[in-house]
Amino acid sequence: MWLSIVWFCAFFSFTQALWPVPVEFTSGNTVLWIAPNVKVTYNGGNVRWSPQTYDKNGQTENVWIEQLTTNTSAYTSHSIIEAAVTRTLKTVFTQNLVPWKLHPRNELYKFEPAANSTKTYISSLTITQTGTDTVDTFKPLAGAVDESYNLTITEDGKAVISGVSSTGILHGLQTFSQLFYQHSTDAGIYINMAPVAISDAPKFSHRGLNIDISRNWYPVSSITKTIDALSWNKFNRLHLHMTDAQSWPMDVPALPELSKKGAYQVGLSYSPADIAYIQSYAQSRGIEVIIEIDMPGHTSVIGLAYPELIAAQDAQPWDTYCAEPPCGQLKLNSSAVDTFLETLFDDILPRVYPYSAYFHTGGDEVNVQDYLLDETVQSNLTSVLKPLLQKFLDRNHDQIRSKGLTPIVWEEMLNTWNLTLGDDVLVQTWGVTPTSVHDVVAAGHKVLFGDSSFWYLDCGKGQWLDFTNESFQTYYPFADYCSPTKNWRLVYSYDPTANMTAEELALVAGGEVHLWSEQTDPVSVEYMLWPRASAAGEILWSGRQDASGQNRSQLDASPRLAELRERMVNRGVAAGPVQMVFCTQHNATECSL
Ligand SMILES: *[C@@H]1O[C@H](CO)[C@@H](O)[C@H](O)[C@H]1NC(C)=O
Ligand SMILES: *[C@@H]1O[C@H](CO)[C@@H](O)[C@H](O)[C@H]1NC(C)=O
Ligand SMILES: *[C@@H]1O[C@H](CO)[C@@H](O)[C@H](O)[C@H]1NC(C)=O
Ligand SMILES: *[C@@H]1O[C@H](CO)[C@@H](O)[C@H](O)[C@H]1NC(C)=O
Ligand SMILES: *[C@@H]1O[C@H](CO)[C@@H](O)[C@H](O)[C@H]1NC(C)=O
Ligand SMILES: *[C@@H]1O[C@H](CO)[C@@H](O)[C@H](O)[C@H]1NC(C)=O
Ligand SMILES: *[C@@H]1O[C@H](CO)[C@@H](O)[C@H](O)[C@H]1NC(C)=O
Ligand SMILES: *[C@@H]1O[C@H](CO)[C@@H](O)[C@H](O)[C@H]1NC(C)=O
Ligand SMILES: *[C@@H]1O[C@H](CO)[C@@H](O)[C@H](O)[C@H]1NC(C)=O
Ligand SMILES: *[C@@H]1O[C@H](CO)[C@@H](O)[C@H](O)[C@H]1NC(C)=O
Repeated sequence: MWLSIVWFCAFFSFTQALWPVPVEFTSGNTVLWIAPNVKVTYNGGNVRWSPQTYDKNGQTENVWIEQLTTNTSAYTSHSIIEAAVTRTLKTVFTQNLVPWKLHPRNELYKFEPAANSTKTYISSLTITQTGTDTVDTFKPLAGAVDESYNLTITEDGKAVISGVSSTGILHGLQTFSQLFYQHSTDAGIYINMAPVAISDAPKFSHRGLNIDISRNWYPVSSITKTIDALSWNKFNRLHLHMTDAQSWPMDVPALPELSKKGAYQVGLSYSPADIAYIQSYAQSRGIEVIIEIDMPGHTSVIGLAYPELIAAQDAQPWDTYCAEPPCGQLKLNSSAVDTFLETLFDDILPRVYPYSAYFHTGGDEVNVQDYLLDETVQSNLTSVLKPLLQKFLDRNHDQIRSKGLTPIVWEEMLNTWNLTLGDDVLVQTWGVTPTSVHDVVAAGHKVLFGDSSFWYLDCGKGQWLDFTNESFQTYYPFADYCSPTKNWRLVYSYDPTANMTAEELALVAGGEVHLWSEQTDPVSVEYMLWPRASAAGEILWSGRQDASGQNRSQLDASPRLAELRERMVNRGVAAGPVQMVFCTQHNATECSL
């Protein structure tokens, strides 16, 4: 029954613009208002959500306590929920949307309740958690947390959110914030679709963004803002591609030269306290930070501090020895490299453990030519290199497991090199071949999808290299290797699990949308990510197909995404427009082909 209602509403109404779309959703057309005296409880206890009013030099100031503490040991489910309720109601009351862009010009009055109507208010928001959080709730392996939630709002103004875990409740609160609008007069905040009944759960348990914070420098504030926006889109993983050939922006106290010599400038690196702040900021928003140190390729920067560890440092012509300058890879048969890695991991992994179940060791784009210049190997033959790579990977993975973590690797370790991996390992594909995802599950391994032909948000900006007079004509008009731009419709069309059997599907943990940073920095990152990453977010949460097995339609998605975009802008994120206002002011038939 609800299916037909959703279908009806998607095509014939401007309301119900939730993103990502919930599994089950019914609604009516009763108007309710919400005011700051709404009583919020969590498992029967009072939730003291802010704003708390302070007297500052004779002026009254409302302060929203959006995060109670960054001390993870002091986190409780209650403190996480209390801060989340505060963020949600701050958005509802102070960052809400007057939806003039979403209705025909000068017809907003048809959608809005009359400003002078008798108001029924939402009197309570009752939050119930039916299960108990454990340590795994806050740093889960894929599938370890029940992220489902239910949300109801009755016509007489009782709102209820329930979830098995606090993470599910966080998602329910995000949905709650999307149900309200601000009146175009100062009449207040309303919902015009009560009664509401939502029952929701994600399709995939690993829903991530991978962002490269090595090619350009991102201050901590840029990363935490990204975490906020991810949480609004119900993502639950942030993969930080922490280091690459070009810079090492992470302080490692046991190896201080790494960032001292490898950061773009002294000071442009994350201290252990910075990283703990990012991790705990994410954790309290239902997001697990996964740190990647890519190796053995993409490590030239280590050579600035420890030249003896790197083969083919700055080798020329660079396009023979690496995919991007500067070239250089960790030597493959060197006990000094082993000692270095042991020290590095001993330093980093205990700082990962409180916040994540995973550590990512990279493994993409290993260039065999570098090993001709590696005096410990002096060969580019697969037969020589493969056993050495296996040993390299085994050493790393053994140490990761000994610290209580689970390894993640890029797909080449399996699909290109055919290395033997533990069953626990999560293999991250990026579309080295069109069958990458299928190849990993066919080999019986757990997989993450995120194909460069669909989910690389950096693509389509053109080359970042400069061309000489000689190469100018060859590369004209300077398209990049993965152009065209992955516009949101292309992102949304990605269907990585098409044709999979149930058995294969069980190995798909989820996926990640990617942003490599050759041409992105904090100035452009919000526009580069949003709203295109939101399109990936809906595929990850809701799936490419609806419950009847039909591909989700752009005509349904577009107005919902346009509304989400407006909400994100109001919450302070510079997301790009989905369509011109002419289109968002009309129903889907007007701007379609
Ligand atoms: C959608 O727009 C078209 C073209 O303007 C119009 O004919 C149609 O009645 C509209 N449909 C609805 C449900 O508003
Ligand atoms: C963090 O919280 C724990 C538990 O409440 C407490 O023992 C510890 O002292 C706190 N650490 C800091 C740095 O405040
Ligand atoms: C509300 O205002 C409209 C005009 O904006 C007026 O026509 C209507 O009578 C008013 N209703 C009430 C209950 O005051
Ligand atoms: C949500 O509702 C469904 C269907 O009514 C029910 O099976 C489930 O237990 C509920 N979940 C929670 C967390 O209340
Ligand atoms: C690796 O190094 C060891 C000891 O230095 C050496 O005996 C061995 O031949 C090397 N292996 C390769 C493949 O070069
Ligand atoms: C190995 O090196 C030789 C000599 O430089 C080269 O001809 C060959 O193409 C290389 N093999 C691979 C797989 O790159
Ligand atoms: C890995 O296996 C595939 C398929 O059997 C094969 O094409 C490829 O050459 C192998 N690669 C290596 C490095 O052994
Ligand atoms: C490249 O071409 C420009 C004019 O087309 C010429 O002025 C310049 O000297 C050339 N540079 C080199 C390095 O050949
Ligand atoms: C559904 O979308 C996929 C691509 O995401 C496409 O290959 C397929 O043909 C579509 N199916 C239908 C029935 O339109
Ligand atoms: C799924 O199967 C259809 C029909 O056999 C085929 O056209 C399509 O390419 C397949 N999709 C994938 C992702 O393998």
